Amino acid sequence: MYSGKDIRQKYLNFFKSKGHVIIPSSSLVPENDSSTLFISSGMQPLVPYLLGKKHPEANRLCNSQKSFRAEDIEKIGDNYHTTFFEMLGNWSLGDYFKKEQLSWIFSFLTDELCINPNRLYVTVFRGNKNMGIEKDTESVEIWEKLLKGKGIEVKDIDCSEKNGMQDGKIFYYDENKNWWSRSGLPINMPIGELGGPDSEIFYDLGTDLKKHENSRWADLPCHVNCDCGRFIEIANSVFMEFKKTENGFEKIKQRIVDFGGGLERTVMIAQGLDNVFETDLFINIIKKVEQLSGKKYRENIKAFEVIVDHLKASTFIMGDDKGISPSNIGQGYIVRRLIRRAIRFGRQLGIKKDSWTKEIAKVVACDYDDIYPELKRNINFVIDQLKDEGAKFNKTIEKGLKEFGKIHNQKIISGENAFNLYQTYGFPIEMTKELAEERGLRIDEEGFKKEMERHRELSRTASAGMFKGGLVDVKEKTMRLHTATHLMLAALRKVLGNHVVQMGSNITLKRLRFDFSHSVKMTLEQIQQVESIVNDAIEKNLPVKWQEMTLKKAREINAIGVFELKYGEKVRVYTIGDEGSPVSREICGGPHVKNTGVLGHFKIQKEKSLSAGVRRIKAILE
Ligand code: ALA
Repeated sequence: MYSGKDIRQKYLNFFKSKGHVIIPSSSLVPENDSSTLFISSGMQPLVPYLLGKKHPEANRLCNSQKSFRAEDIEKIGDNYHTTFFEMLGNWSLGDYFKKEQLSWIFSFLTDELCINPNRLYVTVFRGNKNMGIEKDTESVEIWEKLLKGKGIEVKDIDCSEKNGMQDGKIFYYDENKNWWSRSGLPINMPIGELGGPDSEIFYDLGTDLKKHENSRWADLPCHVNCDCGRFIEIANSVFMEFKKTENGFEKIKQRIVDFGGGLERTVMIAQGLDNVFETDLFINIIKKVEQLSGKKYRENIKAFEVIVDHLKASTFIMGDDKGISPSNIGQGYIVRRLIRRAIRFGRQLGIKKDSWTKEIAKVVACDYDDIYPELKRNINFVIDQLKDEGAKFNKTIEKGLKEFGKIHNQKIISGENAFNLYQTYGFPIEMTKELAEERGLRIDEEGFKKEMERHRELSRTASAGMFKGGLVDVKEKTMRLHTATHLMLAALRKVLGNHVVQMGSNITLKRLRFDFSHSVKMTLEQIQQVESIVNDAIEKNLPVKWQEMTLKKAREINAIGVFELKYGEKVRVYTIGDEGSPVSREICGGPHVKNTGVLGHFKIQKEKSLSAGVRRIKAILE
């Protein structure tokens, strides 16, 4: 059986034999690219070359790139998602195209790794009339030949998402599934951006068709892209054929291929497993957690996978030569979240030892010594950060416990209070339950679930219509701008007067836009005052809390916001800063960040008239 290391090397050697130059993995922390917090695909550091700049080494490149996707944090626990992963990549910079790419990758999987071709399924772009882009018949023809070459009967199927597999082998999907650009969907691509149809390869684990409860296809027949866990995507060949222009999509002359495939998943399949965490790329870490906790992985799958994934990712991020420390801002905030979440799940498993997380970091550094020696080089830094963060988190827990002490003089802890502990102090419900039980109390778990659901719903609303893909966690970014909007409105009222009320608000990933009642142009000085009030509040790292109350109560405590609701109606009030004399207090559905410290630096970019008596501001967080 091939090891993870073997497979990485085999891939690189295979593409070397096809004329590719092997290039090293770039740092996980992007250089000269503020669009993402971390590198999340192999093509990202190569963008200038994909866009036409001459690469100093060759027109055919390949590597294994360290990658991290924060948007997958919540998915950990399903056996095949990880936040940190290595992306096997190969690129044609104006050189080969579909025929070579699809033949090579198919041959690598089936001939080199001996993956059973009967278990592979492929997808291609259905085409889109509105975009003026045809169905990718070129790829279909190539796939038909390749599959037939392995003695496989080929049937291509459209609409499998509605009608199921129908014994098909090649499946058509729309741009939601078979289009790739850095910005995701075609509609989200800025003018000048390259993108194009892609063709993915899926492996059929062939296990039972257990469906994820929340899958939006739960009631539809299973198909390769349905996310039920049966089919695992292992390879994505992107054909960057189109450039977005003012007038739609223009076919470009260069032949650009961007291939990416997850190393961990490929290893899992080549090793005949149905779980990435059981491959040799993870197993030593799993064993370490078993040793530390005295518990079995198989009996505690989710907790183990969260701990292993998060601490492995943190080790890679902190152990990078551009090492990041946990903090409340940007990349540091992600590391903080990862470490704290791992510690929480460690508590759940009953791990008692002080600063146990460093034990995991050491295993990761040893496992990857040959290919990523920076981890060993930087291990002392990583260990210090883990120790520090563990101590800080313990202090937070103490604080949370005090809060808990305040609320538990009732026999039942309300769902809202339990949710507040979760939201403000990161107390998982299991922990609150444990503490409650120790004190002979009960938790309104149903109420907690309802609060949780309500919050999820609100977050979904915030990110609806935004793009996902490799970019910075969407929810996080929009929440930050949303909280900044509250601070800005408070500052505007302070500088211009209490006649200022909100007339409109719109948030994208990049900026906030805010319309408000005021009749004259703001002076430069006023703009600077508003900026500095907001930035002061950010620097003070003020807590952002919410409470539900009647509209009457909200008015009594001077919350600003929409008042055309009924007087007795319940509203949510967000308070930033000290409860007694808050910086901002608004009626709002949320969601917001927990502390202003994560916002970054606030800057007003434009202030102009919108209509009589209404002005518009555009502002960003840098
Ligand atoms: N860049 C492509 C991806 O991330 C290959 O899937």
